[in-house]
Amino acid sequence: MEIEISSCEHLMYVSEIQQEMYDSAQRRGTGIAKRSIEYLSKKISEGNAVVATENGEWVGFCYIETWSHGQFVANSGLIVSPKYRNRGVATLIKNKVFQLSRGKFPAAKVFGLTTGLAVMKINSDLGYKPVIYSELTQDEEFWNGCKNCVNYEILMKKERKNCLCTAMLFIPSNNDIKEVKNNEPQNKDNDEVNQDGLLSSGQITSGGLHYTNNNTKKKIDEKESNLSV
Ligand SMILES: CC(C)(COP(=O)(O)OP(=O)(O)OC[C@H]1O[C@@H](n2cnc3c(N)ncnc32)[C@H](O)[C@@H]1OP(=O)(O)O)[C@@H](O)C(=O)NCCC(=O)NCCS
Repeated sequence: MEIEISSCEHLMYVSEIQQEMYDSAQRRGTGIAKRSIEYLSKKISEGNAVVATENGEWVGFCYIETWSHGQFVANSGLIVSPKYRNRGVATLIKNKVFQLSRGKFPAAKVFGLTTGLAVMKINSDLGYKPVIYSELTQDEEFWNGCKNCVNYEILMKKERKNCLCTAMLFIPSNNDIKEVKNNEPQNKDNDEVNQDGLLSSGQITSGGLHYTNNNTKKKIDEKESNLSV
């Protein structure tokens, strides 16, 4: 199985990814922030997603999005093809997309909203902690994404303080943030600076991990060695 940072080569899977996102949400009876083909294609072609495939067949997907001018990153749209579930694929995809987010935006807080136990487990292993919604981005555009959710009325009734989803947040250590600040001047000439003013030099390869949590690394190493990925 290949678990890769996305590129134009993966655009051929975009319709299948969108359809499975929709079908899975219907089966779960939950709402979902609607992602258009154009939106998903942009994520894929700009390398802001992770795609899993096996023998040319699509297996799984997740993408990254920044909010509040790069102060927050969300790893969203996690989906695994039904026939590949319960084999640790989501764990590997989330690990890779987390590395990608941390590499591109080392000073950003990484967050997610979920009702799913699988995602809560994976996020906890990566070092996320449950939080109340006021700790998350207050970017209107992010919360507008909840409008398609069947529980949107509840969110509004609770004045956006909580809802049925559990909010989980990973806060980078002060050292990570200092590292970004210290690196900025000398890297400016060589590195592309993204729209949020952060260096995008931290391109991740499978060996180039940037863990802040040794337990997470150990657990993922164990998982990876158990899987023929
Ligand atoms: C949720 C989903 C991504 C999980 O994918 P997966 O590849 O089966 O997950 P993994 O095999 O990596 O499992 C991760 C952990 O969650 C557990 N898990 C998996 N599916 C679970 C479920 N339905 N209920 C409870 N736990 C579950 C696994 O046992 C594993 O726990 P462990 O590390 O303690 O062994 C997949 O079921 C899916 O695509 N669902 C539909 C879309 C969705 O719900 N996306 C999440 C939106 S927030």
